[in-house]
Amino acid sequence: MALWQLYALSVALVSSFVASSSSSFYHTAVAPPQDLQISDPGLLGSLDIEWKPPPNVQAFNECTVKYKFEYRNTGDRDWKVIFTRKLKFRVGFDLSRTAEVKVQTLLEGRCTNDVEVQSDWIYATFQVPLQGKLESEVQNFHCIYHDWEYLKCTWQPSLLAPRGVRYGLYYWYEGLDHAAQCDDYIQDHGINIGCMLQNLSQAEYKDLSICVNGSVAATLLRPLYVTLRLHNLAKPSPPKQLVVSMSASEQLHVAWSPPGGETPPQCLEYEVQLAEDQGEAKATWASVSTQMETALTITRANQSRISCVRVRARTNIFCADQGFWSEWTQECFSVSRKEDKQLFILIPVILSLSSSFIICMLIGQCKKRSPAGKPLHASVGC
Ligand SMILES: *[C@@H]1O[C@H](CO)[C@@H](O)[C@H](O)[C@H]1NC(C)=O
Ligand SMILES: *[C@@H]1O[C@H](CO)[C@@H](O)[C@H](O)[C@H]1NC(C)=O
Ligand SMILES: *[C@@H]1O[C@H](CO)[C@@H](O)[C@H](O)[C@H]1NC(C)=O
Repeated sequence: MALWQLYALSVALVSSFVASSSSSFYHTAVAPPQDLQISDPGLLGSLDIEWKPPPNVQAFNECTVKYKFEYRNTGDRDWKVIFTRKLKFRVGFDLSRTAEVKVQTLLEGRCTNDVEVQSDWIYATFQVPLQGKLESEVQNFHCIYHDWEYLKCTWQPSLLAPRGVRYGLYYWYEGLDHAAQCDDYIQDHGINIGCMLQNLSQAEYKDLSICVNGSVAATLLRPLYVTLRLHNLAKPSPPKQLVVSMSASEQLHVAWSPPGGETPPQCLEYEVQLAEDQGEAKATWASVSTQMETALTITRANQSRISCVRVRARTNIFCADQGFWSEWTQECFSVSRKEDKQLFILIPVILSLSSSFIICMLIGQCKKRSPAGKPLHASVGC
């Protein structure tokens, strides 16, 4: 072997040693996962996302391999992020829009000198076939969860709906094997314009996926996709057994019972309003709010004449991000109008220690039970 050959070989060896040692300690590269796939199990919003490990993954036995999985609907500003060692996920999307996912490999351990190494991303998208014209989708879709007992959803036929249109409502939540169809429709002139769903307690605090689709003669209409959360759509009945009493000592006592139904009493807040007797003038209502308390003592100034008291209830912030007010209960009295004085509410007095204690307990409990609320989003295609 000629001297120059030996020299060239040793340079090659040294440089390859330097290259390999520096790469294993400073910039070990890792490939992205492979075969990223999205499939639709027919659950009206949930999609299955799968991928395979990168090809060279056995080489990193001194390191942990993880994945950073991100997903969103086209048009969303932010990606939702999941760090995982799994290779398969089922996550919820709004099927009227394109689903976008991306995954990268994360490598960390002795093989990377405990520095986290990230691969490039791989991407995939999914879109259900969008049949029918956009204007053929149903309109004004609304749902209310009455007394935490039944869900009533209503809609109006699309502008383009011809005679004889047949609408169907399908729903799914985690725990059901497959999407189910409504079996109690509300009809108007023979057309389905709403649905009553009972027995949904298993769906509380979860995503409930709904699709309203339809057909007429041979034409398919654009389906509507909605994901909602029951606890954010709750509407209680009015409180019960409102009792108002006035004591001689200028004090007004108001007490009531939580509404019936399945509404959890600890999930309610109340608003109490008092109307002052103002003779011929229209009553003005003054409001007092309470959290969970079902009694209130109000000190009246100047013996003002309260002529009506009304109370209503709503889901409180410990159980939901939003909800609907119940109807008012109302209690009115005829009062003599000797003194036309102004109502002056000093202080709602019943903020007892015990109620702050209940609030503390509830923050713990309800926050656990109710994962971060997701706004209702409506969209298209079943
Ligand atoms: C309510 O749903 C449960 C399963 O989630 C079922 O076993 C039960 O029979 C249902 N009750 C009614 C009244 O439909
Ligand atoms: C409506 O959607 C359901 C559930 O995906 C499906 O089974 C049904 O065939 C659809 N109906 C029409 C008219 O598209
Ligand atoms: C209460 O009565 C006093 C004297 O009669 C009067 O000066 C005061 O403005 C009254 N207050 C209210 C809130 O009506």
